[in-house]
Amino acid sequence: MLRQRRESRGMSLRQMARLLHYSPGWISRVENGRAIPTDDLARACDELLAMDGKLIALARADRGGAVDLLRPAQLPPGASAFVGRQELLRELDGLLADANRRESVLTIALDGPAGVGKSTVALRWAYDIAERFPGGVLFTDLQGNSPAGRPLEAADVLEQFLTAFGLPAAAVPADEAERAAVFRSIAVRRPILLILDNAAGSRHVEPLLVGARGCVALVTSRRRLTGLAVKAGAHRLTVRPMDQRESVDLLRAVAGPERVAAEPTATAVLARRCAHLPLAMRIAAERLATFPHRSIADAVAELDDRKHRLNVLTDIDDPHLAVRAALASSYRELDVEAARTFRFLGLFPGATLSAAAAAALVDRPLGHTRRLLEVLVAVHLLEETGPDRYRRHDLLRDYAAERAAEEESPTACQEAVRRLIGWYVHTARDWSPPHEPGSTRRNGVPQRRVPGGQ
Ligand SMILES: Nc1ncnc2c1ncn2[C@@H]1O[C@H](COP(=O)(O)OP(=O)(O)OP(=O)(O)O)[C@@H](O)[C@H]1O
Ligand SMILES: [Mg+2]
Repeated sequence: MLRQRRESRGMSLRQMARLLHYSPGWISRVENGRAIPTDDLARACDELLAMDGKLIALARADRGGAVDLLRPAQLPPGASAFVGRQELLRELDGLLADANRRESVLTIALDGPAGVGKSTVALRWAYDIAERFPGGVLFTDLQGNSPAGRPLEAADVLEQFLTAFGLPAAAVPADEAERAAVFRSIAVRRPILLILDNAAGSRHVEPLLVGARGCVALVTSRRRLTGLAVKAGAHRLTVRPMDQRESVDLLRAVAGPERVAAEPTATAVLARRCAHLPLAMRIAAERLATFPHRSIADAVAELDDRKHRLNVLTDIDDPHLAVRAALASSYRELDVEAARTFRFLGLFPGATLSAAAAAALVDRPLGHTRRLLEVLVAVHLLEETGPDRYRRHDLLRDYAAERAAEEESPTACQEAVRRLIGWYVHTARDWSPPHEPGSTRRNGVPQRRVPGGQ
């Protein structure tokens, strides 16, 4: 903060040192956080740079003097009945052990589809390790996927963090960069654990990261935070839907062990109908718990109707707690072309498709379609399962079909399906993908040009 203010005033280190009657070396050490200034020096700097007492308060905070820094413990309550995720928790433990050995800072980015359990596993791990951080634990829900579409501003989050340390309002600078500087200077003294939940993207969290050794930042996002991996060396881990055993454990924990034991086959089917997505399974299981006279087979039957499935997977008490609402907030973030692609993929009847089949559906050149699919993969609205293989879980497909029915005309949908069938007929004939360079189209169906032919 001292350095930023000095530089913004166009004052060199030497000039300031001369005016304050201190050596430039000492001022430099203070600026770099390697020395804590006395009250007299802090006051002199504050007056010289017209900081209204902020530097004095900061210097005191640094010494744990008049302003005793608090040890924040901001973790909200985690999910009741947490199940599974042991492998992921072990991976997180491994990364922490590694960072401790190397005495370095650790930044982890957890990504994954909506409702897959990113925030839940982040909180669980944070509770497990919270005690190891003498500086305390900070948590914020950045609301990167809030229905209101208003992610929190970094400057506001920093203000909230600084006050959580007990910094008086007067010591909180007005500007984001200065707030970040004070935050980092606090973190450098005592390692902190920082949970940045539901980030909109890498740039959303960059101003909040600390580089001090011993500090750990855990970020969750629906978006793959590749930018954070490149810029801040973050370790990226992806949270996937649960496996069959974890899914049954979750249903058992919420709906009750007796019911699950009485209907093991129906329970397995229920997990599949929920695409093994914790949010969907949780809602389905809470429904069972609310209606104790219904059987699990009844719950499965309710979900058999694809058109009705997303209506069922909505919490009775809180309509925002719904699979459709979660997917909608991801969908709304897409640009026009990617959103159109997502909708048309809803018309594809199977689970897995190739880029060429997608190109036929969306009626775009193959290379362009690949890029659109990459956009969907980056926000977990589609999964890349192998070279040129893409898959989405059933609930995503249902939601995409819903969007297509609502936002595309029946003719546009029929045309898309006709192109897809045309493409199938064509590939079955000679295995030539559509839209490859040199291909031509006739009657909306991609036609292969025979090399050297007409
Ligand atoms: N391991 C788990 N054990 C029990 N319940 C879980 C587990 N993981 C997730 N859930 C439940 O699933 C629901 C969704 O989880 P969560 O909010 O963590 O998902 P998310 O991936 O963070 O979603 P979003 O993308 O919307 O932020 C929550 O109600 C949570 O309680
Ligand atoms: Mg979350």
